[in-house]
Amino acid sequence: MSTISVSPLSPTIGAELGNIDLRSPLSAETLAEVRQALLDWKVIFFRDQDLTPEQHLAFARNFGDLEVHPFAPEHPVYPEILQITHHADAPGYENLWHSDVTWRLQPSLGSILLMKEAPPLGGDTLFADMYAAYDGLPDDIKEEIDGKNARHDFAGFRRGLVRKGATEEELATFDAAYPHPEHPVVRTHPETGRRGIYVNQAFTRQVLGVTPERSEELLRILYRQASFPEYQCRFRWEANSIAFWDNRACQHYAVSDYWPHGRSVERVTVIGDTPYFDPDQPVTGRQEERPFRGSMQRSILA
Ligand code: SIN
Repeated sequence: MSTISVSPLSPTIGAELGNIDLRSPLSAETLAEVRQALLDWKVIFFRDQDLTPEQHLAFARNFGDLEVHPFAPEHPVYPEILQITHHADAPGYENLWHSDVTWRLQPSLGSILLMKEAPPLGGDTLFADMYAAYDGLPDDIKEEIDGKNARHDFAGFRRGLVRKGATEEELATFDAAYPHPEHPVVRTHPETGRRGIYVNQAFTRQVLGVTPERSEELLRILYRQASFPEYQCRFRWEANSIAFWDNRACQHYAVSDYWPHGRSVERVTVIGDTPYFDPDQPVTGRQEERPFRGSMQRSILA
């Protein structure tokens, strides 16, 4: 019998797992519990995990193959470890709701982020439950977006390459390697069968099959869903904390409020499958009751 403890941070998203040491290989039973907690809570947290890069990679490999990020600074020895370092001369910029690498044809299953240096205050990360965000949409919007696709791209990173003086030839190589993929606006989770919003402010450009104006309106409505606190949890970091989030089920936003202090993390990203929408896939995961209805909610204060 496993002794892992699971302490939820909110009713639907985020749970801290205790009594577990990620430095050693995990038994099949413990691994199955971690996997189930990830599916149930969409993001799971661990404290006091002083992992070496090798241990970080070994833990991540339990969940699949690892990607190498083509645009971000990497670890000097292990290219699968992405290093994100901010300080007074390099303020944070991950303060935009997103799911990782949706500009790939096969975006990420999940990301495992280890906090190396936490700021004294601030620098929290927020996570938003995209199942609950979908469930809370008005029915006519759900009907309109179910089965539609949206185009994604890496325009933000491309602008960074241009600023750093990339040549036309280099840019063309990146464009060919990462052709702007079309992903379902509503994604069926391959393991839980649940539907979640799968467009994000960082990487989605256009909903296809509607006018550009309607695309703008739909994206505004869908992006706004992530902003409701009722769909969110917020994680306060300490050095050696870990967050492992399911990019198929949630989005995240790193709060950039700690300048001029430093914040330094290492992220390993597990490659996922090709996103799809299946109107007939049965739900096998935990389905929360009575979702908060997002844009339809009226406070008595209004
Ligand atoms: C990210 O957007 O992947 C980084 C999140 C964080 O630094 O909290």
